[in-house]
Amino acid sequence: MKMASRTFRKVIATSLTTDFRKACEIITTNFKDLKPNEVLVKSCYTGINATDINVTAGRYGTNKVPFDVGLEGLGMIEGVGSGIPQNMIGQSVGYIFTGSFAEYVILPAKYCLPLPSVKPEYIPLLISGLTASIAFEQFGHLKPKENVLITAAAGGTGHIAVQLAKQAGCYVIGTCSSKSKIDLLKKLGCDHVINYKEENLFEVLKRDYPSGIDVVYESIGGDVFDACLNRLAVNGRMIVLGYINSYHSPAGIDRSQKNNTLVTKLLLKSGSVCGFFLMNHMKQYPTHLAKLVQMVDDGRLKVLIEHCDDNGHQFKGLEAVFKGVDYLYSQRSKGKIVIDLKNGSSKL
Ligand SMILES: NC(=O)c1ccc[n+]([C@@H]2O[C@H](COP(=O)([O-])OP(=O)(O)OC[C@H]3O[C@@H](n4cnc5c(N)ncnc54)[C@H](OP(=O)(O)O)[C@@H]3O)[C@@H](O)[C@H]2O)c1
Repeated sequence: MKMASRTFRKVIATSLTTDFRKACEIITTNFKDLKPNEVLVKSCYTGINATDINVTAGRYGTNKVPFDVGLEGLGMIEGVGSGIPQNMIGQSVGYIFTGSFAEYVILPAKYCLPLPSVKPEYIPLLISGLTASIAFEQFGHLKPKENVLITAAAGGTGHIAVQLAKQAGCYVIGTCSSKSKIDLLKKLGCDHVINYKEENLFEVLKRDYPSGIDVVYESIGGDVFDACLNRLAVNGRMIVLGYINSYHSPAGIDRSQKNNTLVTKLLLKSGSVCGFFLMNHMKQYPTHLAKLVQMVDDGRLKVLIEHCDDNGHQFKGLEAVFKGVDYLYSQRSKGKIVIDLKNGSSKL
């Protein structure tokens, strides 16, 4: 497909820092011709992820500025390269692909995940939902009546993990840092919610679950990681997804020395701690996404979407990406922050 000499806007990183506002700017760029294997997608929605600031710090993918940012989106195919069937034009797709903070995205067709329609409810199913679904299936091996502890439970990936664990018949414990998140998590199915800012997580787990925790879905790191590992049950499985506590630090590494007895603790418990990085599981995206879409469409899975911050500022247009990243790191957001890009100024 030949592109007209028209322009669209996108967010790019121009300096390497975890301060998203300092790292990024919005530029206007020309459309380029599509390669045979590529498609052009008109972006409708994009999702904010905790790790967006790891990307702008140059910790994932490239560290040579300038580069595109934004990890996931949802839109409609508007153009196809010569090797892609014309009937893909008009198809609604989701994608996990760098460069989603843009009014249009050009990407190889193989990264497109077909969806029944374009609606914001499908954004939380991409990085957040696929992470929960694949990590539990592949590493959690949840069994009914087991107890499952989910940290950052009211967040993007946490709120989906809570519901999947509940539907697997588990007793679900969630952690969060505010009263309004406690109420929300109870509604989503948590049997026990711990405000780890007000209660000592390790002491509560020791008191209430003396036999330990069977499965941990952990994304905060530091003291929270330690408390979870120390309270892992015999045969327990701990899935380590992230360490958001350290993302703003200069090295972006959890340098906590407290975890240095890891091997002994795992050995004595026959426990396993496994890492999980969604991008290593691409082959499983289509089956898991189809399952999650079905669950949302027939009402078995509720997705929480933040369309605005708690001052009522709407997340609309590319400029709102900056507000979205700030809001995620304010620790006040619940569920997934979704940016509405439909009203962008570019048209082909
Ligand atoms: N490995 C993978 O493939 C993968 C994929 C997706 C996500 N993740 C990880 O999962 C975690 C959650 O990501 P998300 O995008 O879904 O974000 P999110 O949970 O929507 O938002 C972050 C939440 O983390 C909690 N938090 C704890 N310490 C924090 C701190 N120092 N600064 C900011 N927030 C803090 C806050 O909730 P509380 O009220 O509970 O403190 C906050 O609301 C991150 O560690 C992320 O890297 C990993």
